[in-house]
Amino acid sequence: MPDPIDDRDQLPELLTQVAKAARDYLARVDQLPAGGTVGRDEAAQRFAGDLPADGNGSVATVTRLLTDGMQAAVNSAGPRFFHFVTGGSTPSALAADWLTSALDNNAALWVSSPLGSKLEQVAIAWLKDLFSLPQSWGGVLTTGATMSNFTALAAARQWWGEEHGTNIAKRGMSGLPVVPVMASHFIHASAKKALSMLGIGHEVLQLLSSDATGVVDVTALEDTLVSLKGEPAIVIATAGEVNAGGFDPIAAMADLAHRHHAWLHVDGAFGLFARVSPSTADLADGVELADSVIADGHKWLNVPYDCGFAFCRDPRLLNAVFGMNAPYFPATNADHPDFLYLAPEMSRRARSLAVWATLAAYGRQGYRAMIERHVALAKRLADQIRASSDFELLAEPRLNVVCFRYRPAATPEGELDRLNRRLGQAIIADGTVYFGTTVYAGKVAFRPAIANWRTTERDVDIVLDTVRGLAERLTG
Ligand SMILES: Cc1ncc(COP(=O)(O)O)c(C=O)c1O
Repeated sequence: MPDPIDDRDQLPELLTQVAKAARDYLARVDQLPAGGTVGRDEAAQRFAGDLPADGNGSVATVTRLLTDGMQAAVNSAGPRFFHFVTGGSTPSALAADWLTSALDNNAALWVSSPLGSKLEQVAIAWLKDLFSLPQSWGGVLTTGATMSNFTALAAARQWWGEEHGTNIAKRGMSGLPVVPVMASHFIHASAKKALSMLGIGHEVLQLLSSDATGVVDVTALEDTLVSLKGEPAIVIATAGEVNAGGFDPIAAMADLAHRHHAWLHVDGAFGLFARVSPSTADLADGVELADSVIADGHKWLNVPYDCGFAFCRDPRLLNAVFGMNAPYFPATNADHPDFLYLAPEMSRRARSLAVWATLAAYGRQGYRAMIERHVALAKRLADQIRASSDFELLAEPRLNVVCFRYRPAATPEGELDRLNRRLGQAIIADGTVYFGTTVYAGKVAFRPAIANWRTTERDVDIVLDTVRGLAERLTG
């Protein structure tokens, strides 16, 4: 196939094939093993090869994706993929995302996508409403929590520079002191990465935790801020840490930040969704007092990868960092927002279509119901662990992450880490349910996270039996 222009006539058939394959796949995904086929790694290797001089044509190429490609995929769209914090795609979001690709608009500017720009404006306003954040805050869609942390912390860095009389976006950081940054051990690796990308550096971080779980030591934080004698600083709180769903005390940290001239940033990649239900909202109390907060779309909002959001009390700071100018760019106005002036990228996927579509389809009550269902499922699994004689619950689930380990009576403590690591590998290799290991309070542990709209009691109820069966095979 020499040139895509000669391929035009294949398009309807290609789309029909993909739609049919996706329809069949998604009709079965609830029953499929979460990890995909046993041959998934081998199927992925079949894609090795050189760039073809003459293309193979779209029909043959897409057929390979529908055969080898689907064999290499994990079933993360399904209800038992508990690894990391993995959301699914709601029906409305998935359909909107397909349309996004078909339209292929660039949501950089109103002029390049009035639809993407308007829906981003509406979606950001609805998300602020959903999370009970002030409507006066600025916000922007990103590719995920890592880029959202980057975006919000860039605004924090700009503020910090201004407090030192410097416009960092214009002049860089040379001649400025080290940025004082404080957090608890809850801090996610992506926030550290953001500090690296921003030229602040992640080794400057002072980690102040009061116990082995990692939660912030408020007294140590206050002492550290007092020792700065009013020098501006950045404090990072975590709402929903990955090991056990723990929360830093955000309201107390906001109070300290305000009293001691610090910017409070909250990483709420999934934990910000605690605010959607009155039964969990108190976990993330005080976020509205912060200076910036972020969350993921592809986790608990259940829109397709990749999607995140960054919110900032002072939108001017986002524009100070990410504003850009060129003679071919139009002047912007409030009715015609141009989100590239608030975002790291210039050209941008119109991911607002999926965000808007899922919020429009299910609304506040739909999301509340889903969050509450997932929280109840996490408690259900925790109860099953507590009632068993061979598993140990390592932390009471605060939200949707359940931290536990296998602990058969006959195994001495000194051997448990090795056993649980081997068991973690067996869980991944088997794929019936899917999650890996972490280290929590010094112990190797599992941390399944429930974040897919499809997940029900049936999916959670097979977790312990599956893991027990694999353990018996390992040790027997
Ligand atoms: C608390 C927290 N922050 C940030 C991230 C990074 O998210 P992403 O992979 O969407 O960049 C995660 C991912 O699990 C997270 O749990």
